[in-house]
Amino acid sequence: MPEDFVVTPWEVTGEVDYEALVRRFGTQPIDDALRARIRKHTGDLHPLVRRGLFFSHRDLNWILDEYEKGNPFALYTGRGPSSGIHLGHMVPWFVVKWLQDRFRATLWFQITDDEKYLFRDFEKLEDSRTIAYDNILDIIAIGFDPKLTKIFIDTEYIRHLYPLAVQIAKRVTFSTAKAVFGFDESYNIGQIFYTAIQAVPCFLPSIEAGHNVPVLIPCGMDQDPHFRVTRDVAERLGYSKPAGLYSKLMPGLFGLKSKMSTSQPESAIFATDTEKAIRKKIGNAFTGGRATVEEQRRLGANPDICSVFAYYQYLFAPEDTYLAEVEQTCRSGERMCGDCKVELADHVVKFLKEHQARREKAKDRLDEFILRD
Ligand code: TRP
Repeated sequence: MPEDFVVTPWEVTGEVDYEALVRRFGTQPIDDALRARIRKHTGDLHPLVRRGLFFSHRDLNWILDEYEKGNPFALYTGRGPSSGIHLGHMVPWFVVKWLQDRFRATLWFQITDDEKYLFRDFEKLEDSRTIAYDNILDIIAIGFDPKLTKIFIDTEYIRHLYPLAVQIAKRVTFSTAKAVFGFDESYNIGQIFYTAIQAVPCFLPSIEAGHNVPVLIPCGMDQDPHFRVTRDVAERLGYSKPAGLYSKLMPGLFGLKSKMSTSQPESAIFATDTEKAIRKKIGNAFTGGRATVEEQRRLGANPDICSVFAYYQYLFAPEDTYLAEVEQTCRSGERMCGDCKVELADHVVKFLKEHQARREKAKDRLDEFILRD
């Protein structure tokens, strides 16, 4: 069935047709011309951008126009602390770091413990706060520049957020919130208000600077509805509309139509997984392989439906030559799924060992990054 999928900030179901999603949300696709324009400033393209896994945007050309005029932009992204961090959560963050490095941009990183409590991921607000601090370790471990990074937790930084939140909230009607997010009478009033809180960091860089600072938000496409609402109110409040740079959602280990889901821990690789767990999960992943070795040697396998190949494509084969070799040997039948999984697991284990070491060090570095009210 065409367009039989749901994408909201709180629910993604069905097989997402990204071209249809661009039409539905009214965003722009990222094309070769825009990639070339980015590369003019960065000198290179991050593999996730080069491969079209960041596939859509709002007003990225305007961000670059302003940059070229000497008006640099700030970056804004966020995390709803519902669980431990898995590799899918990190996908946008790698591109955020790359943009921060290349453009020397300040990053505002919102941690929405309020959201995850209001949307019932937790019964107690303090549990949401605990996961927030756990997730911040993984964020710091990504390698953001402490001089250019401001992380804040909503319920802790609220004195700075609330004045803007009320100005935004006053300009968003219940009927808009219902139309954009699908709320009905059964939702609690915190859920209805929440989008105002997620809008606030779009304007914080301007307030801090005392003039209008362009803001670019790299994130999963599912967050766009919030920023559609924000863009509607921005100019009425005297600010520029925030721009967006949107990624696809990395598939889970059970097939390209599957999601990485915390409720199914075997579907995702978490930042704190042990080597044993990583190897086991990848060993059980869905592939595009044939029923027997003999058949696979003869007919080749199919990377187009393979979870393991998606991991290479998203994160673990940054060089195009290496990715092409994986793909070609898979299609030709030279590469067996078992070997391919071990090869991937070796990359993942190496990455996560290093990540876990940085994560451990991050425990003493919180004050370098966290804004206090
Ligand atoms: N709502 C996001 C989530 O559930 C968290 C978030 C807050 C966010 N601000 C953001 C995500 C800005 C991306 C960009 O994860």
